Amino acid sequence: MPDSPVLYVLNGPNLNLLGTREPAIYGSATLADAENVAKAAAGGLAVVFRQTNHEGQLIDWIHEAGREAAGLVLNPAAYGHTSVALLDALKSLSIPIVECHLSNPLARESFRHQSYVSPVATGIVSGFGVNSYDLAVRAAVTLIRERAAA
Ligand code: DQA
Repeated sequence: MPDSPVLYVLNGPNLNLLGTREPAIYGSATLADAENVAKAAAGGLAVVFRQTNHEGQLIDWIHEAGREAAGLVLNPAAYGHTSVALLDALKSLSIPIVECHLSNPLARESFRHQSYVSPVATGIVSGFGVNSYDLAVRAAVTLIRERAAA
């Protein structure tokens, strides 16, 4: 880990379409808005904020977070419901992981009730639209500071 802690905020498939994608579910805020919310909530901690539509890329970035980051906020999007590879990558980390969703998957279709991320997440924030990023980043920063003080 670098001397100054860094928080990774990683986003999975279709989240590049935020703002126009199913606004009744995900709201009108864009991914750029989510990035601004995340950075404003980080209390001065450096934030690496990325999005990909590719499972392998997401896994490479999770490995990178294991080397470079003090904490991870992850909106896995649909890969959270499908990807054992994502679970295996997350299992290799020893940093706090906060799972983040704009919507509340448990209030939606039953195939969204399965999460391969939740079993290895320290905690989950879901259902608050773009404000989920505010809450998830604040939680991650608190966990990072608690670990640094321990
Ligand atoms: C999501 C919820 C997932 O079920 C869905 O596949 C997404 C977005 C959310 O942020 O609410 O793409 O992760």
